[in-house]
Amino acid sequence: MTSRELLATELTRARDRTLRLVDFDDAEVRRQYDPLMSPLVWDLAHIGQQEELWLLRGGDPDRRGLLSPQVDQLYDAFVHSRASRVDLPLLPPADARAYCATVRGRALDALDALPDGHPDAFTFAMVVSHENQHDETMLQALSLRRGAPLLDRGAALPGGREGVAGTSVLVPGGEFVLGVDAETEPFSLDNERPAHVVDVPAFRIGRVPVTSGEWRAFIADGGYREPRWWSPAGWEHRQRAGLTAPLFWNAETGTRTRFGHVEDIPDDEPVQHVTFFEAQAYAAWAGARLPTEAEWEKACAWDPQTRTRRRYPWGSADPGPALANLGGDALRPAPVGAYPEGASAYGVEQMMGDVWEWTTSPLRPWPGFTPMVYERYSVPFFDGAGSGDYRVLRGGSWAVAPSILRPSFRNWDHPVRRQIFSGVRLAWDADEPLARRATDDEPLARRATDDEPLGRRATGDV
Ligand code: AVJ
Ligand code: FE
Repeated sequence: MTSRELLATELTRARDRTLRLVDFDDAEVRRQYDPLMSPLVWDLAHIGQQEELWLLRGGDPDRRGLLSPQVDQLYDAFVHSRASRVDLPLLPPADARAYCATVRGRALDALDALPDGHPDAFTFAMVVSHENQHDETMLQALSLRRGAPLLDRGAALPGGREGVAGTSVLVPGGEFVLGVDAETEPFSLDNERPAHVVDVPAFRIGRVPVTSGEWRAFIADGGYREPRWWSPAGWEHRQRAGLTAPLFWNAETGTRTRFGHVEDIPDDEPVQHVTFFEAQAYAAWAGARLPTEAEWEKACAWDPQTRTRRRYPWGSADPGPALANLGGDALRPAPVGAYPEGASAYGVEQMMGDVWEWTTSPLRPWPGFTPMVYERYSVPFFDGAGSGDYRVLRGGSWAVAPSILRPSFRNWDHPVRRQIFSGVRLAWDADEPLARRATDDEPLARRATDDEPLGRRATGDV
């Protein structure tokens, strides 16, 4: 398949997915399920508006498109906060669908006319990534919707394996290549580039993400009541927000609500819907810490035998149903141990898909960073740009489209967010005794990583 055919396929696949996520009556798609999220109809038209801007208007907001300037600006994420979008004079659902379809027709014509190897292929891939990322955002919105379920329980998943939860692997110290280049990953986004050598001291990392069963032990041990496990900012948030369990849990009954379905909490599933602050507290309670981005990516992509990066943890094969839980159809993470074939060179499992994994790292440009055409994708969110407190999440969730995900892919959010499909993978300094049990009563003193004070103000609201 040429890259043109591949891009056309991925555009179509993303659009099928988008349209399924808005395949509800008008009142439904105009609703605001939660002030944290836009109405679905905003995401829909914004997907079309961004596609038109990048593919048909040359990225120039002053170049007139299909919408009047007044309507066009309704879909600028930097102008209107998510909470306020429901009150805007948004395009009615039928108009939004028609607008997206017209833009798409012209975008596919432009793609057809693109010479082989033309650099604009990147812009098409960026648009594919953008649409798929908003599909995940719409799934977050739908997960916050109250009332009888709108979605079914999700597609079947492979079963897990006993004996992997709570175990860890050693990643020996040494240099590895962090990030990627356009030559090896032409569709990587700006914040993943350039590839550069980083020396990472030896560490241990969880073989699989922390499970809901393990999280229940944290709750039962008073984890949410003990300030000593929490950072000062984390404890303050825990108090203010009244956190007592992951979002959507009823810890008393051992049930959760998932897209409107009330069901038992599966002990062997990676915990999801936790904030960075809860992840940190859990890690402290478990005698561990969260990984840095560099640790996470080394454990995921580095092959110590060949001293090269792998395209995916398991090698160069495209993601498939035996390798990772991706694409959004499952509507939940797979049990731990479900993807032994997806293990990295170090034997770390389920790094791609299932849950986004919180790292300690604020979002920063890699040395030599050069912004892509869509400059405001990352730059306003970088630490030091005065843009607020963000932590990087890695690895993608079950809701991420396989074609947009790479070991180098970086996501970020505020440390208090948990409507996202976020979970936890633990790490330890290699010189610490491993896998301390919940029965141990004191956390170990841990070496500081790049865990920095938070508290700057946010601007962009995508
Ligand atoms: C990279 C997921 C943090 O949705 O907030 C969508 C992606 N940027 N439209 C977000 C994005 C512009 C962004 N994240
Ligand atoms: Fe967007």
